[in-house]
Amino acid sequence: MHSAQPGIMEPIPPLARYLIFSLNAASDPRRVLAALAENVDGDEIVVGLGQSLILALGGNIAGLRTFPPHVGPGLEAPATHGALWCWLRGADRGELIHRARGIERIVSPVFRLEKTIDAFRYGSGLDLTGYEDGTENPKGEDAVAAAIVESRNRPLAGSSFVAVQQWVHSLDQFEAMTAEEQDFTIGRHKSDNEEIGDAPPSAHIKRTAQESFEPAAFVLRRSMPWADETREGLVFVAFGKSFDAFEVLLNRMMGAEDGIADALFRFTHPISGGYFWCPPIDAGRLDLSVLGL
Ligand code: HEM
Repeated sequence: MHSAQPGIMEPIPPLARYLIFSLNAASDPRRVLAALAENVDGDEIVVGLGQSLILALGGNIAGLRTFPPHVGPGLEAPATHGALWCWLRGADRGELIHRARGIERIVSPVFRLEKTIDAFRYGSGLDLTGYEDGTENPKGEDAVAAAIVESRNRPLAGSSFVAVQQWVHSLDQFEAMTAEEQDFTIGRHKSDNEEIGDAPPSAHIKRTAQESFEPAAFVLRRSMPWADETREGLVFVAFGKSFDAFEVLLNRMMGAEDGIADALFRFTHPISGGYFWCPPIDAGRLDLSVLGL
């Protein structure tokens, strides 16, 4: 029985560590990936494979592609890719560090660690601006329908496609706005999370209203705030049964439809962008059978 990596469906954890690896082109990743699969339950660690890795395995995952760089008037959403993406979910920072070291030991030197990002839950699940993030996520069966490839679609049943972007906030710029400007940027009141019906069309939730697309563009967002010594922002993570919903959402945010850019860009911008395929779980381990592993 193939099922989705359970961490995808669960609420975000108190703490997380993201690891992005590139592939050492001279190496054969098969043995290492098989070892990794034994150590991934999809809950404490959610794993995604990038297109370069699938090609190195001689495989083909229908629907997987590389992240297309998006540009809009004065705006860029860069593509940075990655061969292997690991989302370590937990509640203890020390334990996460040891788990990350364990993963690195398994996959090195075939994979090279390119980037580590430490992330955390803020309050009840807020972005660092103080706005609740995830309110309009589909729930229950709707979440499964949005995020997971359906069971009759063999051999990909139970898998998911994830779009990941690291956004850097300028909280100084955000805090310089009046309370009304902030609310109009998001399209909700910070005080009670109520939607603002007459928010400007640039408001983030006007740009991304999932039901306003044809077909509706539902994604399952599992984003988490991040911070290092000097900067902070959001690791935006959206799981989908394909990348289509994410792409139409980002296109409209960039102003590609009507020239209106998402007001979010007034205080934040993405510095990375990658697409990954998240294999299903079978018997408590990552199922890579579609890749012959
Ligand atoms: C720094 C970047 C971002 C921040 C701080 C942010 C924050 C938020 C907040 C506060 C909400 C309102 C509450 C909710 O429904 O979750 C929201 C809604 C939403 N966001 Fe974002 N977001 C960001 C980037 C993105 C990106 C890149 C996408 C997709 C390409 C996206 C898609 C959505 C969607 C689909 C909704 C729900 C809209 C609806 O149907 O009402 N967001 N976001």
